[in-house]
Amino acid sequence: MSLPDSAVLSRRHQGLRQALEAHGLNLFVVTTPSNVRYLTNHAGSAGIAILGGSHVDLLVDPRYGEAVRQLQGSNAACPDLDLYVVEGSGGYEEAVVERLVRAGSLTAGFEAAHLTVSRHVCWQKALESRGSAVKLKATEGMIERQRVVKDAGEIAALREAAVRLGPVAEVAFRAVRPGVTERRVATTIDAALGEAGYERPAFDTIVAGGDNSALPHHHPSDRVLVDGDLVVLDFGGVLGGYCSDLTRTVAIGQPSTDRRHLYDAVRDAQAAALAVIRPGVAVSTVDAAAREVLNERGLGDVFGHGTGHGLGLEVHEEPRISRPREGFPPEVLQPGMVFTVEPGAYLPGVGGVRIEDDVLVTETGCEILTDVPRELMILH
Ligand code: GLY
Ligand code: MN
Ligand code: MN
Repeated sequence: MSLPDSAVLSRRHQGLRQALEAHGLNLFVVTTPSNVRYLTNHAGSAGIAILGGSHVDLLVDPRYGEAVRQLQGSNAACPDLDLYVVEGSGGYEEAVVERLVRAGSLTAGFEAAHLTVSRHVCWQKALESRGSAVKLKATEGMIERQRVVKDAGEIAALREAAVRLGPVAEVAFRAVRPGVTERRVATTIDAALGEAGYERPAFDTIVAGGDNSALPHHHPSDRVLVDGDLVVLDFGGVLGGYCSDLTRTVAIGQPSTDRRHLYDAVRDAQAAALAVIRPGVAVSTVDAAAREVLNERGLGDVFGHGTGHGLGLEVHEEPRISRPREGFPPEVLQPGMVFTVEPGAYLPGVGGVRIEDDVLVTETGCEILTDVPRELMILH
């Protein structure tokens, strides 16, 4: 997977600069790693980007200096970048404050959802002690709002990340049989993700059999799978930095009537949600479509999570496919959004079912990016 080139990064910078202007900000200090990557292609575990009117300062520690220099020699170079290698990982605070003081009298935005209180206090005190007139202003979602609609390169990366889950699912289905542990199946899935070319799993793989399937985010255990179990398999991989996420629930042997009822209800809830996806529809409408089916089948109370979440550089990002959120403006679907559709129903003592696919909103509806059968698979 190739990295976004300089022209793509330049468009992202311009988009952010417009948002800064609208919010009365002169500079923006980016500390969220996925946002630093989105703006600069620097994908290290540390690094701070400061975007101003015409330049981007990228502060990294010595672990990353040479990697960024190499990146800057390629067609994926970040435009208008000034690289500063700080002294050790403790050097970031001094370097940020230095840059802010040098910029003069202005308002600098920071990412309230990521910057720790202690870091903020440290910057504030250092600015005051140097008599600086810089004001630090908390912001929310400045870059995340831009990331919610994917560009062509991101869509290609997400498509490839999703489609490669097909062969991984086949390996997973072959691994599920009576007598093996959840942990063994999870290890097999993780190995298959590596074989399929993913850089790493997108999250801790979930394998939940029998009673454990009623625990939505169960950690694979030494429980042995037995005949009659429903088994929830939830896994995903990161490819070129972009995440995929798939869940299938399978049965070992013929499921009981109540487990079959659970499966059919969740499958129909997912189909109902997929059917309403198109530009202009509120995300809460997609959530309601799934919820309505589960309510009709008497399972509304055991669907305790949202219907889906955005996928991108992070496995859980905007848009959240959920009920309307208090204090948040209504989110409406736009072409280029990529998210999961994953209703579930979890009945203690009976079992749980979740079915999850990744979709792209198109001009007329949606494209399902994951390609794995959704009918109940009965394994022996
Ligand atoms: N595996 C986490 C999720 O489906 O969101
Ligand atoms: Mn998942
Ligand atoms: Mn998910």
